[in-house]
Amino acid sequence: MTVEETLKSVIRDVPDFPKPGIIFKDITPIMLNPKVSEEILDHLVELYKDQHIDIIAGIESRGFLFGFPLAIRLGVPFVLIRKKGKLPYNKISHDYELEYGTSTIEMHVDAVKPGQRVLIHDDLLATGGSAAAAAHLIRKCGGEIAGFNFLVGLDFLEGKTKLKEFSNNIINLATY
Ligand code: PRP
Ligand code: MG
Repeated sequence: MTVEETLKSVIRDVPDFPKPGIIFKDITPIMLNPKVSEEILDHLVELYKDQHIDIIAGIESRGFLFGFPLAIRLGVPFVLIRKKGKLPYNKISHDYELEYGTSTIEMHVDAVKPGQRVLIHDDLLATGGSAAAAAHLIRKCGGEIAGFNFLVGLDFLEGKTKLKEFSNNIINLATY
């Protein structure tokens, strides 16, 4: 099986969550299966080991699950991009629009150094709003966007179009 087939064999569709009409892609069965988790991680390491990534930024919360192990395997630092009010030290923030209202994400000021090549990782690309906000945040620190990685991409929501202004290196392991 390819990695995409493996991922699709374990990801669970949950209808009407969090709202009626939405089919939620539940990735939690991946973490119940260490063999599948290892296969995904091995695949990510192969994809990125020669891309000169200086640092990986993971988007709270599900972007921490594979982002941090991948950073350890690549031997690079990992930075947490968190929802407002969660980080203790001095931070920079970025506000962005949601379907209804706005949201804010934050990162510690000293996490990314100017000129570093940052790979942004999250579990899922939907509208691209979260990943684009993360890219803005990293740019505010002078970081360069080396690319975006997602386990899953929902192509029909066209999130990639929001990310192309930052980098064309956009990879999702499984596409719906
Ligand atoms: C989900 C998902 C991505 C984001 C994708 O996170 O894990 O982070 O939404 O949506 P977008 O492309 O439209 O921005 P969620 O906000 O549900 O939080 P969680 O990861 O903490 O569960
Ligand atoms: Mg998330």
